[in-house]
Amino acid sequence: MRLYLATSNPHKIEELQAMLEEAGLSIEVLTADALGGMPEVVEDQDSFSGNALKKAKALATRLPEDGMALADDSGICAVALDHAPGVYSARYAGENASDLDNLNKLLDELDEIEDPNWAGYFACHLAAVDASGQESVFVGECHGNIIRQPRGENGFGYDPVFVPEGHDRTTAEMSQEEKAELSHRGIATRKFIAWLKDGMTV
Ligand code: IMP
Repeated sequence: MRLYLATSNPHKIEELQAMLEEAGLSIEVLTADALGGMPEVVEDQDSFSGNALKKAKALATRLPEDGMALADDSGICAVALDHAPGVYSARYAGENASDLDNLNKLLDELDEIEDPNWAGYFACHLAAVDASGQESVFVGECHGNIIRQPRGENGFGYDPVFVPEGHDRTTAEMSQEEKAELSHRGIATRKFIAWLKDGMTV
């Protein structure tokens, strides 16, 4: 079986490949480029699952028989901001905003409401759709706190301002392996891998 990811984000491809290998699964991970590119999809759903499924279903229309399309939608949710930015995490500071712009906008919004509780969580909804159209969604969440002063060079996005519960370092101060142990994407991916393994032994 081959997995086709509806992303060209190298961090996500690396993370998934490493976790599949660790689980002893030798599954080839490719991107939508191997299927002629990602079909145009507007991420206009109001839930992570809705957007993830929309992307996976669009890519699944191009799958070979042994293929599976995998798409995720993820983001950070600040409890004091009524769970914003949520599905808008990638474009919180505007359509072409950089990771840094988005991160600064999050800190500004939290500063403005003067709520001392900066609890938040990363969420990842991972949708798998096979060539026959069968759909499955796997959810992972990583709870913790958002901090005012960004720290760390690893990861991407909001990692420099997120400290997972029970830790004192940001996810940007952790190695890829350490982050995968506790991250929203790690949790969703492990659920997906367990499901894959289960299906393979039937
Ligand atoms: P998407 O799921 O790739 O659209 O990501 C949505 C947004 O959430 C992006 O702006 C990312 O920066 C952010 N995000 C998703 N996962 C992570 C993570 O593991 N660390 C930091 N930011 C993340």
